[in-house]
Amino acid sequence: MSTSSSTAAERDFKREFLNIVFIVFGVLLICFLIFFVKHQEKNKFIIETLELNGSAEEGDALFKMNCVGCHGITARGLVGPDLHSITQRLNDKEIIKQVTGGLTPPMPSFEIDPVNMSNLLKYLHSLE
Ligand code: HEC
Repeated sequence: MSTSSSTAAERDFKREFLNIVFIVFGVLLICFLIFFVKHQEKNKFIIETLELNGSAEEGDALFKMNCVGCHGITARGLVGPDLHSITQRLNDKEIIKQVTGGLTPPMPSFEIDPVNMSNLLKYLHSLE
């Protein structure tokens, strides 16, 4: 009698344990999928941007509207660093991540479309 009740308890425990494993596995799977989709979106954005040949003038205008407050009117640096010859230190992909990522506060992340991002890149290249 006591043996059979202990196996029932064991079975309960196993079922409970399996449930938890399934839940944890499911949550991890969902996290992974979200991460994967986000990553794909970012990659798509970078590929689209790099396929374009932006305009330095448009990029200059965009820079004056969004970036001069921190990087200075001639991009010589203020709160943020001097951006002359930045394209020798960072590749285009890294610059895109810097602008859209928001990874280095106080610099915010910018919501920007590939055309404007490509214009900005062209402008930054013109600063060399
Ligand atoms: C609120 C202030 C602020 C604004 C606005 C801002 N930045 Fe920045 N930016 C910074 C700061 C501060 C850093 C340095 C971050 C760090 O490395 O810790 C930086 C770093 C950078 C870097 C990397 C520099 C390096 O030497 O690694 C690039 C490129 C850059 N910014 C481009 C831009 C562009 C393009 C814009 C406009 C679309 C912009 N930033 C707007 C503050 C700002």
